[in-house]
Amino acid sequence: MDLDTLKQTAARRAVEYVEDGMVVGLGTGSTAAFAVSALAERVRLGLRVVGIATSERTARQAEAEGIVLGTLAEQSRVDLTIDGADEVALGDLALIKGLGGALLREKIVAAASDRLIIVVDATKLVERLGSHGPLPVEVAPFGWQATARALERLGAEVNLRAQQGQAFLTDGGHYILDCRFGPIADPAGLEAAIDRIPGVVESGLFVDMASAVIVADEGGVEVLRRAPAP
Ligand code: A5P
Repeated sequence: MDLDTLKQTAARRAVEYVEDGMVVGLGTGSTAAFAVSALAERVRLGLRVVGIATSERTARQAEAEGIVLGTLAEQSRVDLTIDGADEVALGDLALIKGLGGALLREKIVAAASDRLIIVVDATKLVERLGSHGPLPVEVAPFGWQATARALERLGAEVNLRAQQGQAFLTDGGHYILDCRFGPIADPAGLEAAIDRIPGVVESGLFVDMASAVIVADEGGVEVLRRAPAP
């Protein structure tokens, strides 16, 4: 089975949790895009939902596929958000998100949601976050070099994300610093330390946010739920 088939399988399962009349957060990335398409299929069959898009890219896809979109100005709560992730920690289901560049809106929508369902293929599961890739941190363009130096002092190797020779710009007009920390022992502590740095808009650490993670691998689909705190 190829990765896209696994992503699609996880996404389809997540969309089964959507009920008529719900406000649904629509994530960003290739796995979340499969969820948007699966949701659109159900909308064409009569399901009524309002989608809250986490990026301009997702908004374009959702509109093209016939999902009605709303905003957090009109909707005081979001019933359920379905989104992807770059890494998922086994056990506490802490996440790294943001390789797709949409982490700020993703976190705002996730925080406003009653439930956050993450959809991944099994390659995203790790014992410790940071084992596979960098932690994306969204920062203000002004003085980003000073922000980067502060992140280096926390132990990261920091790279400004670039696209076609220019600094990559998020939907909010910010930069992304990709920070390689290696395996992260204390995601909540690191998140708090990063948030204290002036210039940081948001980090891609999502701690205590995922309600469930739907994982697809060759053997089928498994739903992981967060272990209760000791
Ligand atoms: C977008 O900013 C990210 O948080 C994505 O959710 C994440 O990169 C997962 O993307 P894929 O499903 O494409 O791996």
